Amino acid sequence: MQNINLVRMLDFQQKGDERGQLVVAEGSGKDIPFEIKRVFYIYGSDADVVRGCHANRKTEFVMINVAGSSKVKVKDGEGNEVIYFLDKPHTGIYLPTMIWKEMYEFSKDSVLLVIASEHYDAEEYIRDYTVFEKETKMEK
Ligand code: TYD
Repeated sequence: MQNINLVRMLDFQQKGDERGQLVVAEGSGKDIPFEIKRVFYIYGSDADVVRGCHANRKTEFVMINVAGSSKVKVKDGEGNEVIYFLDKPHTGIYLPTMIWKEMYEFSKDSVLLVIASEHYDAEEYIRDYTVFEKETKMEK
């Protein structure tokens, strides 16, 4: 399986009216393609900070810049990489398991909402790119 081909942008419906916008992110395949077990958000990161730099053995994610913007670089451990730009509260990026991710170029007002399929378990994070490359090869 080429995990990088599973990475995709999601467009959420904007339920706007004269009062403003509302976006719904319901789990279990409705808007988010998994059952939601955890939500966290990242803000206050300077423009020159690089966050992430890990892959997850078990967790899938959707990331949404609900305010501001950031970039997400994904790598598959086999030399392929793609850069996504998140700048709309009604679009997100879906990340499957076993994909390397780096978040960077945060705007001052960036609030990056992250929706996850699993509870936090530090053991399922791969934070060493060499280990990620090895485990990617072992999966083949
Ligand atoms: P980290 O994974 O380094 O953040 P990022 O992916 O943005 O670089 O997490 C920062 C800290 O927060 C680290 O000490 C682990 C902790 N943490 C939790 O306790 N629970 C969580 O769900 C997450 C994502 C992080």
